[in-house]
Parts: sequence; C-alpha cells; structure tokens
Amino acid sequence: MRARAAARAEELRRLIEHHNYRYYVLDDPEITDAEWDRLFAELGALEADHPELVAPDSPTQRIGARPADAFGQIVHRLPMLSLENAFSEEDVREFDLRTRDRLKVQGDIEYAVEPKLDGLAVTVIYERGRYARAATRGDGVRGEDVTANVRTVRSVPLVLRGDVPALLEARGEVFMPRAGFERLNAEARARGEKTFANPRNAAAGSLRQLDPRITAARPLEVFFYGLGEIEGSTPPERQSALLAQLRSWGLRVCPEASIVRGVEGCLEYFRRIGARRASLPYQIDGVVYKVDRRADQDRLGSAVRAPRWALAHKFPADEARTVVRGVEFQVGRTGALTPVARLEPVFVGGVTVSNATLHNMDEIERKDVRIGDTVVIRRAGDVIPEIVRVVPERRPADAIRVGLPARCPVCGSPVMREAQDAVARCSGRRRCAAQNREWLRHFASRRAMDIDGLGEQLLGQLVARGLVATPADLYALSAEELAGLERMGEKSARNLLEAIDRSRSTTLPRFLFALGIPDVGEVTALALASEFGTLEALAAADIEHVQRTPNVGPVIALSIREFFADPVNQQIIGELRARGVHWAPQESVPATKPLAGSTFVMTGTLAAMTREEVEERLRALGAKVSGSLSGKTGYLVVGADPGSKLQRAQALGIATLDEPQLLELLRTGRLPARTLR
Ligand code: IVH
Repeated sequence: MRARAAARAEELRRLIEHHNYRYYVLDDPEITDAEWDRLFAELGALEADHPELVAPDSPTQRIGARPADAFGQIVHRLPMLSLENAFSEEDVREFDLRTRDRLKVQGDIEYAVEPKLDGLAVTVIYERGRYARAATRGDGVRGEDVTANVRTVRSVPLVLRGDVPALLEARGEVFMPRAGFERLNAEARARGEKTFANPRNAAAGSLRQLDPRITAARPLEVFFYGLGEIEGSTPPERQSALLAQLRSWGLRVCPEASIVRGVEGCLEYFRRIGARRASLPYQIDGVVYKVDRRADQDRLGSAVRAPRWALAHKFPADEARTVVRGVEFQVGRTGALTPVARLEPVFVGGVTVSNATLHNMDEIERKDVRIGDTVVIRRAGDVIPEIVRVVPERRPADAIRVGLPARCPVCGSPVMREAQDAVARCSGRRRCAAQNREWLRHFASRRAMDIDGLGEQLLGQLVARGLVATPADLYALSAEELAGLERMGEKSARNLLEAIDRSRSTTLPRFLFALGIPDVGEVTALALASEFGTLEALAAADIEHVQRTPNVGPVIALSIREFFADPVNQQIIGELRARGVHWAPQESVPATKPLAGSTFVMTGTLAAMTREEVEERLRALGAKVSGSLSGKTGYLVVGADPGSKLQRAQALGIATLDEPQLLELLRTGRLPARTLR
C-alpha cells in the first residue's frame, strides 16, 4: 500500500513538472487547467496521508515554507557581472567597431539579441537537476540567499528535465508582468496602502519578503538568459545554443530572443522590439547584444564590472523630472473629484506630457505632492501619466500643500467627503454642469442607451449651446437644431436622430444602468430589474426591500433611494417616458446566480454566437463581463484568432475557456474549477 502510494506520488510529481514545462516554458499546455488542478490535488491528498512522502522538491512545497529570520548571504561561485550601457546608435556602432577590432575580424559578427528585462537578476543552482539554492546579484560577488522565495515562483522548475549536469547555475531575471503589477497596485490602493513605483520595484520587493508565503502570492515570473558555474556538461558554444539548452532543461527563456548579423542587425532588432515594447506583457528597458560565439566571448573577456562581449542598448527613459505648477480637480459623473497635476511640459515616453493624475486626496497625502515640487513622472505605453514620487531635496521653501476645495470648481456646490471614503464629491448633482456632461456621456454609451454617433465632441457642443442639459433633452432634438452644429452634415444629423430614435426602445436593466445612479453598475441594474420587475416598483420600494436584492448593500440601497427621491430625477424620468423611451417587461431570471462573483473577458471570435449574446447570457447567470484583463478576471473566453489578451492571461495565470467549454458552461451554468496556477 505504502509502496503504491510512493510510486503514485512520484508519478504525480513527474506529471506536474511535465505539465508545468508545457505550460510555462513551451506555452503549449496538453491538459486543461482543471485537469492540472486535479493532479495537484491528488498529490496533495497523498502527501497529507503519507507525510513521509513529502519531498522538498515536490510541487506542493512551493508555498508555505517557514519564514526566514533574515537573508543569509551566498558568495557567487562566479561573479555576477553587470552590463555596459549604450544610449544611442553611435554608442552601439562604437561597441561593434571595438569588438571587431579586438577580435580582428573584418566582416559582420553574429550577435545573440534579447530584450533587457526590467526585473531582478537571480542565480539559481541545480544540483543533479534538483533545485538547490537561489541568490540575488547583490554586489556581484555576494548576494542574498532567496532560496525559499524563488522556490515559490512557479515558472522556476524544481526538477530539471533530460540529461542534466551535476551542477548548474542558471542565471536570469525575476520580473513581474505588467498586468500582475497593475493588479497588485490597484489592490494596495484600495486598501489605502503604498503602491510600488514600477514592476521592477514590485519584483524586488516581492522577492525580498522574509515570509515566502507573501512572495508566493505575488505574480512573479522568470526568464533565464545566462550561465554561471556548470559541472558535468560542457557549456554550449554559442549564446543562442545556451538558450536552447536551458530551454531543453525546462528553464524558461524569453521568446523574443534572436540572432542577428552585424551592427545593422542589432539596430534593426532594437527598433523592432522598441515598436512592440508597450504591447509586451512585461516591462523591458532596452535590448541586450551578446557576441554569440563563446570562443569569441572568452577572447574578449571582462572588465571589472561588465563583460566586453555584451552591451545593453537602453530605450529612452519613460520617466522624467518636472515641476508641479498647480493641482486642479476634475468632476466625474457621480461628482467624484479627481485631482490632476498641471505640470511644466516635459517630453517623456515619446510624447509631451503636461498633466498627471493623482487619483485622490489620499494619494496626494501618501506621496506628499505639493505645488512647486519637482516630481518624477512616468508615462508607460498608453497609460495616463502618473507622478511616481517627489524629489524632496528639490522642494522650494514656498511649496504649497494641496487642499481639498470646499466648493466644486465647476458649479460651486459644497464638496462632501464621507469619513472612510477616499473620494470627495461635488454635492451639486444635476445642478453641476460637469456631472451632467459626464452623465450624458454615460447615458449615451454603448452598454447603456447605446446612441451610436453621439461622441464626446458632439455632446460638448450640444451642452455648450444649451440644446441639451439632461438625457430627456436628447429626445427633443430636431434636425434644424443639429444642422447648426459644427461638422454636422445633413446625413450625419439624420443618422444621429435615427440612432436616438432607436435607443427609445430598450430594456429595463439598460435603462437603470443608463440612469447613472451612483454605484449601480450593470450587474446591480440587472439584479434590481429582476427583483422589482418594473421601474415604478423600484422607485416606490422601501430601503429594506432594495437592500434585500442580491449584490445590493446598505450603501447602494441608500444611493438608490436618494436618486428616486430627488424631484429633479423624477422629472427627468417622467420626460424620458413622455418622449417615448420604453422597455419590455423584465423577464424573470433564474433565482440562483451560479456565476455571481466571477468576471469574464473575451478575445477572438466565436462561431456560434455574437459577443453581445454571450455577454448577455453570462450576465444572466450572474457573471461580470469586462473589456480588459485585470487581477479580477476569472476566465478568458478564447475564440478563433485570439488577440494579445491570451498571452497576457497566460502570463497572469488566468484560466481560459474555449468555445465548446463556454457553450457547456452556458448550458449547465457550471464553472470549471479555477486554476491554482
Ligand atoms: S546578461 C554578464 N541578459 O541587466 C551578463 N542581463 O544591467 C550579465 N538583464 O544584472 C547579464 N535582461 O539583471 C543579461 N537579457 C539579459 C538581461 C539582463 C536584463 C539585467 C540583469 C543585469 C543587468 C545589467
């Protein structure tokens, strides 16, 4: 019996390592996440019954090792060098010239080229193919012993595959994919805690946790790119062959690595990767050129700090320093005031930036941003520029603290801030032009009344000319009024009127969502529609009844009551109905919401249904459907020709569903087990 258990445990470990390799290294899983979960659970159960079978390199042992008191030190067997940096094409050409000169070659050199990952260098030691130790780079000679923490990184195999050397020191970069980083920061912000300035800091902070259980909960990944000590196997003759060898041992290498000829090949690679930089799921800060042949590397040797055979070509910085000239407050649909820093314009990340979001007052206090301060700002990809930190030594004596305005900058109504609430709001509601404009925008949006062609620009004009103040006014617009607007031909005026007309016929959940009641999103709108059936019933309901609706707590219930009690809102709803806005009676939806609490995202095209149909069906089962991946995403539905979301989801460890699985789910309402990976 025991022998059987031992054999099965061994088999399960082998299977799990195999499937981890397929999943993490090859990006080509052979089994579903649920099947993987079953293998993992079976091994866990076996080990629980037979504790003597638990081996330190079992996949179950990644999480939960005892916290270390402090990090010990590890002296590197071979020093961990740094890289020489290049910031211009000229620097790169000089490097190539120097290298050819030293090697006395006339023609092109072959370079192995790789992205320069923005993480933390680690060295991972395998003894007879088993994970033994891991260390950070430290000062290059001595690093911190992070064995317990690196063990929790799921893309670091605990057992190598194939013909393994007696000793292998694999070097690489531990990093945090962008999506995981954003999720971590969003969670920290929601808890009012400090956020990480960038994915690199987040990776470093996560790896230097004294409690490996914290590290285990962080979305860290690894790419290997180099070799330290090796015993019992000859090192491959080229960097490119080394990457292939590492990969065959089951160590993950960056899929963007390549080989090029000569300096022109290097520069072309730099431009190619640079163009794709923002769409890579992880942050990189340049590319690395390495002389491909080892014999040449050996001839070139190393200087004190960095090898002579490699060069890091850095991208222009996406961070810059500038001065905060002022802080203004923008007013959103629900009156939320968002502080925005007005900056001395700077060129960063390829564009000139003159504004940066500060999120809310807590964020200003946490970062202690004052007017007059010199700050570091960052603009990465398409994201809104952010203030990373203040440069304290540059603070002028007359720097001004930022205070919450007592009155709304747009309508002058008092600003309210509930205790415990990070958000301050303008109390002007329908009297506030900013809130009204944002409300109109929300009302017309695709998921609400879906008025095609009524964009921000056009709404701005309608409001500015006094043609529209409330959603009800949209349904009284005439062709003559529209004809007077800028860039509005007869045909577009007609199209817009038709779109407005079409939107008159809607559904109760959509209409409720369009009303823009604070905190009532699509899911809550659907729940309310199902609970009350008609708008009249909801408007007349007492607060206790509203609160009994699934997903509705006391705060939302109060917000709903206040909305319907407001005579201005009552009047607008009355006008909307008088102008022909109507909806079909709400069908009763299943009492149970099997998918409540899960969020779905879609990519690619489905054969059997349109996206809208799928979204509607998922929502009817209680699910949330979102347009973009985040830490809250539970499942990615993958159709034909999926986009980059698939790659990102895999990087984040988000479970995927193909079309047959989705159809099964819609039919049965039963979820596949969520992956543990
Ligand atoms: S090779 C002796 N390759 O860059 C060669 N380093 O600025 C040393 N890095 O400490 C490293 N991506 O943390 C190499 N593809 C890559 C890299 C890379 C990122 C980091 C590494 C190193 C630092 C030097």
